Amino acid sequence: MTIDPTTQTLAQLGALTPEAVARRFAEVRQRFDADIEERGSDATGRAALVADWVGRRSGALTSIGDHWLKPAPLELKRVVGQEFQNLKAYVEAVLEERGKEIEAARERATAAAQGIDLSLPGVHRAIGTRHLIRQTFDELIGIFFSIGFSVVEGPEIETPYYNFEALNIPEHHPARDNMDTFYIEGAQGSHLLRTHTSPMQIRTMEKQQPPVRIVVPGKAYRRDNPDATHGYMFHQLEGLAVDTDITFCDFKGTVEYFVREFLGPQAKTRLRPSYFPFTEPSAEVDATCHVCGGEGCRICKFSGWIELFGAGMVDPAVYGFVDYDPEKLSGFAFGMGVDRLAMMKYGIIELPLLFQNDVRFLRQFP
Ligand code: PHE
Repeated sequence: MTIDPTTQTLAQLGALTPEAVARRFAEVRQRFDADIEERGSDATGRAALVADWVGRRSGALTSIGDHWLKPAPLELKRVVGQEFQNLKAYVEAVLEERGKEIEAARERATAAAQGIDLSLPGVHRAIGTRHLIRQTFDELIGIFFSIGFSVVEGPEIETPYYNFEALNIPEHHPARDNMDTFYIEGAQGSHLLRTHTSPMQIRTMEKQQPPVRIVVPGKAYRRDNPDATHGYMFHQLEGLAVDTDITFCDFKGTVEYFVREFLGPQAKTRLRPSYFPFTEPSAEVDATCHVCGGEGCRICKFSGWIELFGAGMVDPAVYGFVDYDPEKLSGFAFGMGVDRLAMMKYGIIELPLLFQNDVRFLRQFP
């Protein structure tokens, strides 16, 4: 069917009242409906319909615009304009809808030819989240980042020099014994899996002049007997700040700030004397028990305090290994067990849960 390009004006067609105009437009719409019925069932037919009805140059709508709308007498302009817009919107919508139907039918046919049933439900793939350890690292790093620390990382395979000697732990020093080290004997001499992230203190100070303000996230290894709270591998966050005027007060203030940020403003901090060869004085940092708030409960063994991490002022002997002047410089360091802190904060009692990657566990920390 070819469509009447409507080369006569409404006046020539004798449509001089709003009703007559409406009738003319209704006729066009009927013709369009008939045309869609006749030719609109496949992509080729629809393409022809598009050209004949909405084609810019010679489509029927353009023609109606030219012959009916433009020359319409003033008193009919509004009606003709309205009818024209309605017709245009209708034609375009039907053509668009028909296009989608044809495309969908084509996809169904292709899928059917390939033996795919598009009506079956899809395969649900769960989206992962950051692991709880990663989340805890990010949280810890974020706290120190906000007070000017930057992040560095280093090797897990170390030399005894960086892991021990330069940290003021000479051979046969008893501190080496509690570290239960995994050694790797190779052609290049003796290596080991770092027993803590502290070697990065040395590596950083070797390369960088003060001021130094770094945290070091990473893995460390010890030949512990695995149990509910110990494995062969654990995560640490090391910290080091060295400058010309860092005092014990700065150390204490930083530690207290950290504890409040990590555990909440109600948490109190306590420094307990301790010993590390590379800090002097050394301290264990305790916080009021997050479960009982310091009253005493099973979690804190009725002491009201929970041990968080080891720390201290950098021992001047360490500066000797990195060519820092101990007369001019001072600083503090800390090393926290990230697994421990995560277990504490989130009330996890079995360390292995952190490493088995059972989604039923991980899903609880979205
Ligand atoms: N490296 C120590 C450990 O693993 C922790 C520590 C780091 C203590 C820095 C003091 C200063 O036990």
